[in-house]
Amino acid sequence: MRSLQGMSVLITGGGSGIGADCAQRFCEQGALVTISGRRIDKLEAVQAQLGDNCRIVQGDVCQQSDRVNMVEVALAHGGGKLDALINNAANMYRQPVDGYTEAHLSDAFNTNVISAMMLSSLAVPHLDATDGAIVFIGSTHTRRAFPGASPYATTKAALEGLTKVMAAELGPRQIRVGCILPGAVSTELNLRAGLFTEAEAKDRYDAVAGLHALGRIGTGTEVAEGIEYLVTAEWVTGVALEVDGGIGLGASHF
Ligand SMILES: NC(=O)c1ccc[n+]([C@@H]2O[C@H](COP(=O)([O-])OP(=O)(O)OC[C@H]3O[C@@H](n4cnc5c(N)ncnc54)[C@H](OP(=O)(O)O)[C@@H]3O)[C@@H](O)[C@H]2O)c1
Repeated sequence: MRSLQGMSVLITGGGSGIGADCAQRFCEQGALVTISGRRIDKLEAVQAQLGDNCRIVQGDVCQQSDRVNMVEVALAHGGGKLDALINNAANMYRQPVDGYTEAHLSDAFNTNVISAMMLSSLAVPHLDATDGAIVFIGSTHTRRAFPGASPYATTKAALEGLTKVMAAELGPRQIRVGCILPGAVSTELNLRAGLFTEAEAKDRYDAVAGLHALGRIGTGTEVAEGIEYLVTAEWVTGVALEVDGGIGLGASHF
């Protein structure tokens, strides 16, 4: 296993949730972490907590000029190198089949999939130099079907497919590619999508806790542990790693 000490890591969507927890875990171990997002106040709050190892860059992963800037800031913060790209930024889009809108589908695929592909494209020349790693954030939505969630689930399925092909393609260049499949974690994801309010969140997460074999939802730090594994394990590539409390098992006690 490699050490995170001194690693230069770009985490998209690092201003909240799993991305912020991953930034914290990586910074605590001496990584030079650059976090990106659209809301500067969120990024600044994380940086204030994490200190000098954390650098922020405001931007939209759907804009190529912003993506270029994210990589440049990460390179500058990391002393000219990039060891890992964590493609974490994403949006939830749930909609029954007969209610799809093309604009929403395009936005979901653009944010969750195409942006991650384009950022990976920008990062690869730099990851060549470090034998680095790319991590995608998939979801248990590809292990367990939640009716009404097909748009989001499909974006995450795309990332899993991408992981395999990219790992095969980049393996000879010693660049590793992995995908984490988290179970439920209480973050802003569903709130930002308007699926429930903050007041309703506890009841909703209590309801979903029992679907996990371990009987509870997870934390962003627990997901970050899996991301850390994919970044530091030197003989692991092309893996879709469930860090999901067992929700993906689909266990049914009857
Ligand atoms: N929470 C869960 O239960 C769960 C389960 C499985 C997988 N995941 C995945 O985990 C990852 C992190 O999500 P989370 O749960 O931590 O939710 P979150 O707190 O909402 O984090 C998502 C982040 O992505 C950023 N983002 C969204 N669109 C962006 C854009 N166009 N440009 C730049 N940044 C953008 C958001 O920041 P701005 O709005 O400020 O840009 C936000 O900080 C996502 O890939 C999600 O699909 C979450």
